[in-house]
Amino acid sequence: MSFTAVYPAPPRLCRSQLFVPCNRPALFEKAAGGPADVISLDLEDSVAPDDKPESRKNLIQGLNDIDFGGKTISVRINGLDTPWCYRDIIDVLEQGGARLDLIMIPKVGCAADVYAIDMLVTQVEMAMGRKKPLRLEVLIESAMGLENIDAIAGASPRLDALHFGAADFAASMGMRTTNIGGPNPDYVILTDGDEAGVRDTHWQDLWHYPMMRMVAAARMHGLRPIDGPFGNYADAQGFKAQSRRSAIMGCEGKWAIHPSQVALANEIFTPPADEVAKAQRIVREMKKGHGAGMGAVALDGGLIDAASIKQAEGIVRQMRMIRAAEKAQKPVKKAKKTPARKSRKRKAT
Ligand code: COA
Ligand code: MG
Repeated sequence: MSFTAVYPAPPRLCRSQLFVPCNRPALFEKAAGGPADVISLDLEDSVAPDDKPESRKNLIQGLNDIDFGGKTISVRINGLDTPWCYRDIIDVLEQGGARLDLIMIPKVGCAADVYAIDMLVTQVEMAMGRKKPLRLEVLIESAMGLENIDAIAGASPRLDALHFGAADFAASMGMRTTNIGGPNPDYVILTDGDEAGVRDTHWQDLWHYPMMRMVAAARMHGLRPIDGPFGNYADAQGFKAQSRRSAIMGCEGKWAIHPSQVALANEIFTPPADEVAKAQRIVREMKKGHGAGMGAVALDGGLIDAASIKQAEGIVRQMRMIRAAEKAQKPVKKAKKTPARKSRKRKAT
């Protein structure tokens, strides 16, 4: 380990992050009653410019009236270059912020973008006397954001997670692809021909580089890396394939842009039962090994050592959070009549 310490963000379950446009408040309760770990109430690109003020009001009312149980609640605000960003923060935090856990900043290009939001959030929190600091999530979705990702990831102690947004990233890069977060049949390599001259086509993952870059930057700063949208929500198999590959790269979860994707993400980002059983055995065997003065021990014909125990402990911790969340999952209550702050339940996540 380097002598430079990494301080991880507080643990948070984020296998699935369901996006809900704030111009459709009827969806808030449906999302609250579903199995998503995180609900992202969206004021940004799923809301048309003329609907922004009304959507902000819907959001505030929803935050005050709806029992979201133990779920993590995030709001995606509008970008720093828009006329809506400052009110998204001030109005929402002043009038509905008590139930909010996270603010997602879209289209972040440099560390100063995070600094600016941190400053504004800090001022509102001080004025409101908020005890538990709101945390920030950053959306990496531009060439500038990716190039400045290390500085961005270290820009604020409030940071919780980095997310990768494929659609805006593709637009920013001038990429010739429109399948949001999915593969492209032209992004391939050909093998050499066999004796008969037949060549195989191998599809490549065109999101591999930015995703891996994001995972490394996130982990370097103790943040959670989260995979963004998969646009074709009718393609469950495609969604699962993309989720599996981002889970293998180190992501802790994926966006759901339709409720049908939530269970799929939960399934893929829940460690499989055999992996959990093996992790528990590794923890046990390493404890025994350490007791006998051994740093590395054999398990099922393979080597386990200090790195294995770290991975195994991570899986065991993740399973504990998943079991607690599943236990806490109750049917959502009816909307309350009065938006009185006092009657709100604040459950820390
Ligand atoms: N959250 C909660 N419930 C949702 C939902 C969401 N995001 N999207 C749809 N539903 C509900 C519908 O109300 C419907 O419920 P019902 O069976 O009780 O009638 C059910 O899920 C099936 O919905 P469906 O008819 O298939 O979808 P739709 O046509 O109403 O909406 C989208 C499709 C894609 C427009 C919608 O899912 C959506 O807005 N997703 C989020 C988009 C977004 O925020 N994008 C920004 C990030 S990329
Ligand atoms: Mg975007």
